[in-house]
Amino acid sequence: AGDGSAQAKIMIGIIGGSGFSDPSALGVEDAKDVEYDTPFGKPSSPLLTGTLCGVPVAVLARHGRRHTILPSAVNYRANVYALRRHGCTHVLVSTACGSLREEYRPGQLVLLDQFIDRTTKRPLTFFDGSCDEFVGICHLPMADPFCGETRGLLREAAEELGITMHDMGTIVTIEGSRFSTRAESHMFRSWGCDVINMTTVPEVTLAKEAGLCYAAVAMCTDYDCWREGEAGVGVGDVMATFRANVSSVVRLFKEAVTRVAARDWAETLQKNKETVTSNVMLPS
Ligand code: ADE
Repeated sequence: AGDGSAQAKIMIGIIGGSGFSDPSALGVEDAKDVEYDTPFGKPSSPLLTGTLCGVPVAVLARHGRRHTILPSAVNYRANVYALRRHGCTHVLVSTACGSLREEYRPGQLVLLDQFIDRTTKRPLTFFDGSCDEFVGICHLPMADPFCGETRGLLREAAEELGITMHDMGTIVTIEGSRFSTRAESHMFRSWGCDVINMTTVPEVTLAKEAGLCYAAVAMCTDYDCWREGEAGVGVGDVMATFRANVSSVVRLFKEAVTRVAARDWAETLQKNKETVTSNVMLPS
């Protein structure tokens, strides 16, 4: 900034989901693995650190680099903690999802803006008394779970590259690891959900507690099982569709990191922090 104030240093965490577990797909330069152990345990993988288009990044494989970790068993707290500890200010993630709408076609991307939480057995917060760095009880507002500014830059990046990406989408995150019944799939559609996966919650909410700017690009890999006369989703569909289209996510993230790095985030990051501190109740 020309007014003498310091521009906030940024670093971008990237979490690759199903079909994107191999961080080398991104072509990170000066790549080096960094191992973390956190007060919440070990993250899913080492952080692959380095630069992407000159921007500092740290890449994590959500399900482990060999895809061995179930959605219910992902240590979301350790993952988010490690990224923040490493200095990340932003997190861009990919996730495979089922489409609950005809017009969100397999292979297309959706820029998530809302979620519905149908998970049942995951630690939901850093503020549960297990770590001295998170004191008190936190009731975090969740009206807008994703970072609006970061979403805007991803949208611009997709436009620039001519990648089809639906601008908005409500995702329902189910516990899994099974897929849904037809009755559940119809119910989620009736609730207004656009897409379905197993990992956005609690990743996004923990990122918000950690003060990070978090945005998620979901790739539709299947139509779940709501369509008449169709067999429904299998894991083969998910992986095959994601792999066939992973290059668009890679291109999108590369374009997006440059755009993120071109902004001053000091004010946004300060606001993120204040949202958390102002919603923590300390012991009286
Ligand atoms: N991930 C990819 N497709 C999915 C589906 N149909 N349901 C839940 N998670 C998914």
